[in-house]
Amino acid sequence: MSVCAVHSCRGVGVENLVSDISTMVFRSREIRNSGKTVGLVPTMGALHEGHLSLVDIARQRSDFVVVSVYVNPTQFCPGEDFNTYPRNLEDDIYKINARGGDVVFAPDTGSVYPEGYSTFVIVEGLTDNLCGRSRPHHFRGVTTVVAKLFNIVRPHIAVFGQKDAQQLAVIRKMVKDLNYDIEIVAAPIVREKDGLAMSSRNAYLSGEERTQAPVLYQSLLEAKELVLKGEIDAASIKNRVMYVLESAPLAIVEYVEIVEPDTIRPVDTIEDGGLLAIAVRFGKTRLIDNLIIKAG
Ligand code: PAJ
Repeated sequence: MSVCAVHSCRGVGVENLVSDISTMVFRSREIRNSGKTVGLVPTMGALHEGHLSLVDIARQRSDFVVVSVYVNPTQFCPGEDFNTYPRNLEDDIYKINARGGDVVFAPDTGSVYPEGYSTFVIVEGLTDNLCGRSRPHHFRGVTTVVAKLFNIVRPHIAVFGQKDAQQLAVIRKMVKDLNYDIEIVAAPIVREKDGLAMSSRNAYLSGEERTQAPVLYQSLLEAKELVLKGEIDAASIKNRVMYVLESAPLAIVEYVEIVEPDTIRPVDTIEDGGLLAIAVRFGKTRLIDNLIIKAG
């Protein structure tokens, strides 16, 4: 296996770091041919407990775990935080090793999108609503890079977080439509003690913003309580969520929606269940959270 020379002298456990695509293809094929199952956890690095919980699930459900660490340029829109996105590969490798990951796949941008690259995977419909509305091309970038990771690693299972519920639905649809023989496993949202969903972007929050950020989860819990009391009308539930979010002076609400979890289509009532999804900005930081709610 070839190992990234740049990182091999830094004193972290890099023997499982693969940066070359053909090496990854070869290594994965070897594992499959030996009869073992391969699990993939795609990430953009700056790993926290949310990401690492996905590694734990992949560890439990497959023989060989590949964690990809790649800040994918095509899923960032102009003016977004691609350049400032936190990057710390050494730290990520250390954490992945500690959780029993077998390979850290961290390809260079040049090798993922070589000059003249022009092929993209687009899932239509599901990507128009929620995050797709304010982040045009975002999901095109996600599905393209995930399709490439699937083709390179050829995993039996791939683990994605419920934290990015729309992304999960879009990936499931891509897997179905493109006949990928891969089981998509959903992992529950991991939260800080005060309820804030863990995210690499939480590091951008100022002290004051961080103090107010748990309002996202509080608004979801209020909605849950309302549903437990018998409310099924989507508009009423969304109003309550909005009311709670607006109690945080620094919160700028981007959307509060209740949608059908697989199709991401808005619902009028939650009689058959719904995905309550919210996006809120604190200064330049955009936070998302969600909860599955169901009448009764
Ligand atoms: P990233 O934001 O690094 O997230 C990688 C995976 O970790 C995603 O499946 C995400 O849903 C999951 N995750 C993040 N925070 C979580 C939390 N608090 N609890 C549980 N899971 C959490 O999502 C991406 O990267 C990219 O779009 C990617 C799929 C890697 C494609 O580039």
